[in-house]
Amino acid sequence: MKRVFSGVQPTGNIHIGNYLGAFKQFVELQNENECVYCIVDMHSITVPQDPAELKNNTLNVAAIYMATGIDPKKSILFVQSEVKEHAELAWILMCNSYTGELSRMTQFKDKSKGSESAPAGLFTYPILMAADILLYDTDMVPVGNDQKQHIELCRDIAIRVNNKLSGTFVIPDGRYLKEGARVMSLDEPDKKMSKSAENELSRISLLDDENKIKKAIMRATTDSEGTVRFDIKEKPGISNLLTIYSAFSGVPIKTLEKKYEGRGYGEFKKDLVEITVDALRPIRERFNEIRNSQELPDALEEGADKARAIAEKTMKRVKGNFGLGV
Ligand code: TYM
Repeated sequence: MKRVFSGVQPTGNIHIGNYLGAFKQFVELQNENECVYCIVDMHSITVPQDPAELKNNTLNVAAIYMATGIDPKKSILFVQSEVKEHAELAWILMCNSYTGELSRMTQFKDKSKGSESAPAGLFTYPILMAADILLYDTDMVPVGNDQKQHIELCRDIAIRVNNKLSGTFVIPDGRYLKEGARVMSLDEPDKKMSKSAENELSRISLLDDENKIKKAIMRATTDSEGTVRFDIKEKPGISNLLTIYSAFSGVPIKTLEKKYEGRGYGEFKKDLVEITVDALRPIRERFNEIRNSQELPDALEEGADKARAIAEKTMKRVKGNFGLGV
């Protein structure tokens, strides 16, 4: 059995990009692997947060994990800040990382753009992420493409430490899907779909109602050619919609192109609305059931206990290897 680890930030607006790039993989992996899934609240405070909203979003994301199919009896589901070893290992990794490699991270460059000085936590964010992964002796990290650079950095740091202190870490691999690894914004298809974009219609959130889904898809940017054809360069809007359609329905893009030959964008979009609404309805319903039930805090408490047991064991080995403590 392989150990799988992944995390999602509790920042609200969990969207179909998160679902198709990440959550869908989480669920697929949980039957044949030992999966550890986390709500990474410590990552989210790298930018200012309202405390009450953060707490609410943390529980929302935990409920979304369960609503999309994560079974806390099969997978470990927990909140990052409940296991203090994440911060402890992050410090040790920080002492084995370089400012040069951190300043090359595109996410840091994007988020700190235009400001002379950025929060130190934003800069060291990828190290906390590496700690999350390495703490659980992870073999596989299912994520969207946007996390690739962070996963590579995690591997680099782990290999660097192992070269000095052999056997300290398990070296993890990223796992990216072919379709869904990078869902683009609906209004600006050259940008990735994001939780923080100002235009609500740029994304479809997992909890959106039918009207909002319809509006966002029907208004999605396309082109003037009128043929449903996959071509990322020339037709990024339609290509993105084809990716979403294919990822939700399981129908290959080539088959979809044939199906919509000679038919306009209107018809294609109408069908996509139906496919999306049908895919999200059970998630929304299950979310409403779980969010205020005792099942949720119980699952998180049990998950944190199980995660802590693994984390304590790893830290004992890591600290021993580094000569820390008595
Ligand atoms: P986060 O919270 O931004 O996103 C959660 C997951 O969703 C994926 N994703 C996407 N996939 C496809 N298309 C998109 N438009 C899209 N947007 C987001 C992300 O790749 C991610 O898998 N740093 C991470 C959280 C994290 C983590 C970890 C992940 C912290 N520690 C350890 C894995 C392992 C993040 O901010 O994801």
